[in-house]
Amino acid sequence: MKTIIHNATIINEGKEWLGSVVIEGEHIAEVTDGPATDLSGYDQVIDGTGLYLLPGIIDSHVHFREPGMTEKADIASESRTAAAGGVTSYIDMPNCIPPTTTLEALEEKHRIAAEKSRVNYSFFFGATNTNLETIKDLDPSVVPGVKVYMGSTTGGLLVDRERALYDIFGNSPLLLMTHCEDTDIINQNIRYFKKRYKGQNDFPVRYHSRIRTTEACFASSSVAVKIAKETGARLHIAHVSSKKELDLFRNDIPLEEKRITCEVVIPHLMFCSDDYDQLGCMIKCNPAVKSSEDREALRHALSTGIIDVVSTDHAPHLLKEKQGGALKALSGMPMVQFSLVSMLELSDKGYLSRPRVVDLLCHNQARLFKIGQRGYIRKGYYADLVLVDPDANWQVLKGRYYTKCGWTPMDERTFKWKVRRTIVNGKTAYCDGIVIDGVRGKALRFG
Ligand code: DOR
Ligand code: ZN
Repeated sequence: MKTIIHNATIINEGKEWLGSVVIEGEHIAEVTDGPATDLSGYDQVIDGTGLYLLPGIIDSHVHFREPGMTEKADIASESRTAAAGGVTSYIDMPNCIPPTTTLEALEEKHRIAAEKSRVNYSFFFGATNTNLETIKDLDPSVVPGVKVYMGSTTGGLLVDRERALYDIFGNSPLLLMTHCEDTDIINQNIRYFKKRYKGQNDFPVRYHSRIRTTEACFASSSVAVKIAKETGARLHIAHVSSKKELDLFRNDIPLEEKRITCEVVIPHLMFCSDDYDQLGCMIKCNPAVKSSEDREALRHALSTGIIDVVSTDHAPHLLKEKQGGALKALSGMPMVQFSLVSMLELSDKGYLSRPRVVDLLCHNQARLFKIGQRGYIRKGYYADLVLVDPDANWQVLKGRYYTKCGWTPMDERTFKWKVRRTIVNGKTAYCDGIVIDGVRGKALRFG
């Protein structure tokens, strides 16, 4: 099967140009400049006129909930909503049931994904206080890294012993991705509010960022950075959410040379604490959505080299689990379908260039996790591609997104950009509102 996508504006490796991409089988066979003149000899011709062609998005932070929480979401449903958002690869988190903290649990997730995932997949392994010996045995070509929960959140995975942290940081052969929020500070804040509002067991959701504060994040992130520096660990801090934490990272060396990197996620770029009044618990997540000043600082850091990758922290819950306030409602929101259109909107607002959007969502994800043959539009690489319409002006409505939980805080929002077609390993997985059945992704390979 030979396909050509012709006459699209290609955004790749720092440049934007009018050109064509030829796909043969699963791979990119050719990338050309200028409009294609001869369209004969192809099995399929895709007209890219007026559209932008980007490498498929790699989202390295999602919670697809399978196994064990499939009433909220599952690998089939969430990989469909991913495909609709231009996401061609994802890396899923270990806080499912059972947690991905044993080799058997990891193998089970691979088995399910090989059968059901519409796009390419991989899985973080979860650290516990006691599973370092298993971590040492992980295959670095299959496992992208180890998730270390240094603060408690959904699922209860936690490494709370300092000795265990030092052992893991000192001995993990794999990158460590940390969730950094200091549980003692959070509990202290909860006690303070309970005392102040005698008898209340829950508070309005806007208190969430006054409980899970910048101080709680910074205290924990600083410890992670300190231990990484002492032990030489390869540290990647997940969902940096405050202005203050940005000072922990550097931008004076290339990504490949960094031992400490960071991720920012879409909820902290698109929402701020002023939104709690309107969107309520729908935007409750851990770490909390913080002030507009924090959001502005994160947005500005998108183009400075401080932020290495942008992911979504897609974390679906049932709407009934999002009832209550700062203490009772569960944390997390479905977002995987909206990373690309959100980032292009931020680009339109002047925060970053379009090639920089592609750096953060595609190239840097591949560089950071050393994902083989993906993340770029290059001859010989897998044909993971997304075609985007710059002038669709569409509204997010039920039926136009596919997360199993059936809601998103993006509901009713209007986006100028719209994903028109997503191609995974050379096959169209999504096109104009339809997720094509039968397309399956592959396990990502690293190193
Ligand atoms: O908001 C969040 N939701 N933060 C996390 O750390 C976990 C996630 C989830 O799994 O629900
Ligand atoms: Zn997460």
